[in-house]
Parts: sequence; structure tokens; C-alpha cells
Amino acid sequence: MSILFKSTRTWMRHTRLEVIGVMILISLLINIFSIHRIFQCSSTDEIKPLTIINSNYSPISTIERSKKALENLKSLLKSVMSPNDQPWIWLPTKDYPSVPYQPTSISNQHIPKPIHTNTIVPQSVKDEINRVCQRLTEANKIGGEIWCKLFTKCYADTLATTTTLLDDNTSYIITGDIDLMWLRDSSAQVHQYMTLSDDKDIQNIIEGLIRRQTQFIFFDPYASSFRLTLRPNPPSDDSLESNHIQKGRNIHVAMHNYELDSLCYYLRLSYTWWKQTTRDNVFNHQWLIAVSIIIQVMIIEQHHSEISPYRYTELGNNYQGSRVSYTGMTWSAFRPSDDQTQFGYLIPSNMMASVVLKQINEMIKKIFPEQTELLKQIDQLRADILSGINTYGIVKHEKYGQIYAYETDGFSQTLLIDDANVPSLLSAAYFNFKTPYDPHDELITSTRKFILSKDNPLFYEGQHANGIGSHHTQSHYVWPMSIIMEGLTNHSEKNLDSVWKRLEASHAETFAMHESFNVNNPKEFSRAWFAWVNSLFAELVLVHLDKLENWLQYRR
Ligand SMILES: *[C@@H]1O[C@H](CO)[C@@H](O)[C@H](O)[C@H]1NC(C)=O
Ligand SMILES: *[C@@H]1O[C@H](CO)[C@@H](O)[C@H](O)[C@H]1NC(C)=O
Repeated sequence: MSILFKSTRTWMRHTRLEVIGVMILISLLINIFSIHRIFQCSSTDEIKPLTIINSNYSPISTIERSKKALENLKSLLKSVMSPNDQPWIWLPTKDYPSVPYQPTSISNQHIPKPIHTNTIVPQSVKDEINRVCQRLTEANKIGGEIWCKLFTKCYADTLATTTTLLDDNTSYIITGDIDLMWLRDSSAQVHQYMTLSDDKDIQNIIEGLIRRQTQFIFFDPYASSFRLTLRPNPPSDDSLESNHIQKGRNIHVAMHNYELDSLCYYLRLSYTWWKQTTRDNVFNHQWLIAVSIIIQVMIIEQHHSEISPYRYTELGNNYQGSRVSYTGMTWSAFRPSDDQTQFGYLIPSNMMASVVLKQINEMIKKIFPEQTELLKQIDQLRADILSGINTYGIVKHEKYGQIYAYETDGFSQTLLIDDANVPSLLSAAYFNFKTPYDPHDELITSTRKFILSKDNPLFYEGQHANGIGSHHTQSHYVWPMSIIMEGLTNHSEKNLDSVWKRLEASHAETFAMHESFNVNNPKEFSRAWFAWVNSLFAELVLVHLDKLENWLQYRR
């Protein structure tokens, strides 16, 4: 103590060396006390969010909030169990190392039956295809026919090839070649039909999809993909061996990978439909419970390393994933590519979360105004996330200035890339990400420059295209999804011309979009039947139809 006292006195003289000495001494003392505490303190005490968003920081209350959310989650999931369900398992065991887990048995399941065996292409979809094709072929006979074929295939693909209406008034929508339903993909797959919301068939399909997703979230809010039941035929991944059970799979849960964006997509789908139609029959008490479950999960995962029960056998550090420090952001085990995150705070997914939380807040205020506690939780969570992105998600790059990182662990490690899968950093503007910390989108602009350059390790350039790829696919393969996203986030003619050219080159005479293709040979591609990207392509054509016509006329 006397040494400390002496040092403190000399500090008064303001000599630099001694100040440093004191700092080292103090940090040593605290270090001995507890390393863990330092991170806790530095990550909570120092953040002073701007007053625009009032996020009542208190170092004790954030973890207490997460603990409370865990209790809420447990009782919410219990409240939606059906009589035949087995109790939830929350602690890892030898048999169930991936938790939370709910064992299901085949015998007690009620499996909804398809009521449509044919493909579903409502009249409004056919009319829309005719309208677009007429305009494209009038703009340019030969080029227009190519683009008409592309649009016809891509726009209808989800309804024509992936959607099943079931006798419980829900819709089951698979990804395409993978015969399972992802929360993310299925939501994005119907987004281009929003403008057809007056069509009764479209209403049944989209509202059925929201109902089905609600059910699936009750089965496992940490899962990313689901099935109605096990099927005896291939794909063989559908079997339920003990190694699958260890991965958290059950009859309905196909992948127990926790991906924050999956939950965001459910909220986005709900909001978009509600805004578009003002129909609220699907936004009932069940839906409110699903939303509450989602909010609790996000709050729990603000303190992942300390209190989250989520374990997954593919994750390191005892199935928990590498350690993260509290930032205000919410943790994600996996990316929208289904690849593991390297550092648990995935900035693009947190950006998307901040957007959909605002949207869902608006919805609940209107439909369930008495839910004041839930509304408070949502506001707080959103403020925490925005503050976290601002404090921990920004890196100073020597060439591009301040840019958003793709991931961080909340200590000091960051990952500077962008991956093609949406949400990506590139798609922040598409989701309308806004933050009071960057009111003029300067960071969005500098980040965009970085990710569309060779300095992004996943950016590839070749004879036929350039663009962003993914760790999920081979090097030098770019994703049409990301090229489309370039077009949806920069509406300049020059940019769109380059987007049309690259997309036209990418389909390789299949008249469908692919997951990825070789920049030097588009005939080498992955996933011939990938409905999500087809839907996104159709959306791009609809949004920029005038500019596409213009390009077809002049072929710059
Ligand atoms: C499905 O919707 C119809 C029409 O609204 C309704 O009569 C029926 O009860 C619903 N079925 C189920 C299982 O919810
Ligand atoms: C949009 O794209 C064009 C063409 O590539 C480019 O010149 C322009 O700077 C871009 N705008 C923004 C805001 O990125």
C-alpha cells in the first residue's frame, strides 16, 4: 500500500514515466484480483452512449437482465409445449451435449398433410411475369427474351418448386436442392411477392409461412432449419442417428446452428407483411409469444460467455464457442452462410437486429400496446446493440479510414471481411440500417469501398465477373447474391449496368441464379436450384425495371 501511496504522490508531479508506472501498478493489482473483472469493467463502465438513445447502462443490471431473460425463455417455451412434448433439457449431458434440447418421439407427432400437390403459381404471379416480360421484350427483342426467361424462372421459382400448403393452414417452404426449411431462406424467398398482397393465394401462402415459422420457433428458437418430420428417403441427412442427436437435431430440428439472422428474418417478414397489408389476423397471441421468445434469446446472448445455456458440439471451448466480452451486441454462433463465426459478435446480423427491433416495436405498440415490459426490453436491446456496434464494431483502416468490422469478440480482435450471404455489411443499406452514431452514412460508404475491393479477402476478380464470395464456397467463386446486393444498394446507372452484365454472364444458359460461380468460367457453379437468390434476383429486376429496360436498349 505504501508503494502505491508514494506513486500516487509522485503522479501529482505529472511526469510521464511515473504516470505510466502507476498505471502498470494499478493494472497489476487489479489483474491479481481478477482478469475477468477488468474486461467486465472496461466494457461496461466506459461506454457513454449518445443521449439520442438512452440506454441506462449499469454494469450489474446488464447481466441481471440476461439472467432474467433466461428465466423468461424457459417459462415461455414451457407455455407453448403440447401435451405430448418431452420437457426441455437445459444442461449438457452425455446424451444431449447440445442444449437447449427437446427430445421428440415419432409416435406422438401430428404431421400436417399437404393440401396442394401441384405447384402453386397464383394468377397474380402469372400476370406480373407477363407485365415484366412485355416491357423487357419491347425494350429489346433478343436481350429482352433472355431477361424474360430469367425473370420468369426466378420470380416464380419459390412458389413453383419449393412451397407446400398444409392442412393446418401453414406453408412449408424448402430452400431448393436442400429439402429443408430455413427460417432465413423461406422469409427471403417470399419477399418479392409482397406487392401482390391483394391476391388471396398469396395471403394464404405468406400468412401460412408466418404461422409455420412460429411453430418452428417453438420447437427450437436456436435452430436455423427445420423439417415437418423425418422422411425415410434421401437426402440422408434426414436420419436421426445418435451423432445427429448430439448436434441438437430432433424430428423437427434439422440444424441447431444458432444464427442471429434467422430470428431477425422472422421479425422482418412479419413487419413487411403487416406494413404492406395492414392485415393482422396472423399476428395473434401465438405470434406475440414467438416474438417474446426471440427477444429473450437475444438478451441472453448479450452475455453469452457468462450465462447462455446454448451449447453446440461443433463449437470450440467446451461447445460454447470462443469467449466474448460484453459489448451490448448479441452473440451469434453461425453466419448466414451457416459457417461458424470466428468472433461471436457478427456486425451485419447485429445491424439487421437493430433495424427489425425498431420495426417490431412499432408493430407491438400498435397491436399489443399493453405489452409495456416487452416494449421496454426491445428498446433497451436496440440501444445496447447500436452502442455496441459503435464502440466495438468500428476499426480504423489505414487506407479506408473508419470502417465496420465483420466480426469482433468484444475484447480487441476483429475480422475485416465481407461475406456474400445476407445480412452482410454490403446489405446494411438494403435493410435500411441507420444509426445515430453515423447520421450521414459515412461509415457505410467507407465500408462499402473496402468490401468491394481486393482488400476484402473474399473479393474476387476474373474474366467474366468480379464480386464477393464466401468461405462457404471455393476461392475465386463469387455469389450472384452479392452482385444483386450491389445493385440493390447503389442505384447509379453505371453500377447497375455492371450488375446486369455480370448476372447475365452468371446463369450459364440455365436461366437461374446460382449460389456461386467461377469468375473465370460461369459454367462452373454451385447449387443449380437455390430459390433464395432467385427471389432476390426477381426483386432487383422489379426495383430497377426502368433501368434494366434502358440498359437492354443501349447495351452499354
Ligand atoms: C384453416 O383456415 C380455415 C379458414 O379460415 C378454418 O376454417 C380452419 O379451421 C383452419 N384450420 C386450422 C387447422 O387452423
Ligand atoms: C455507385 O456506383 C458507381 C459506379 O460503380 C460509383 O461511381 C459510385 O461512387 C457508387 N456510389 C456509392 C455511393 O457508392
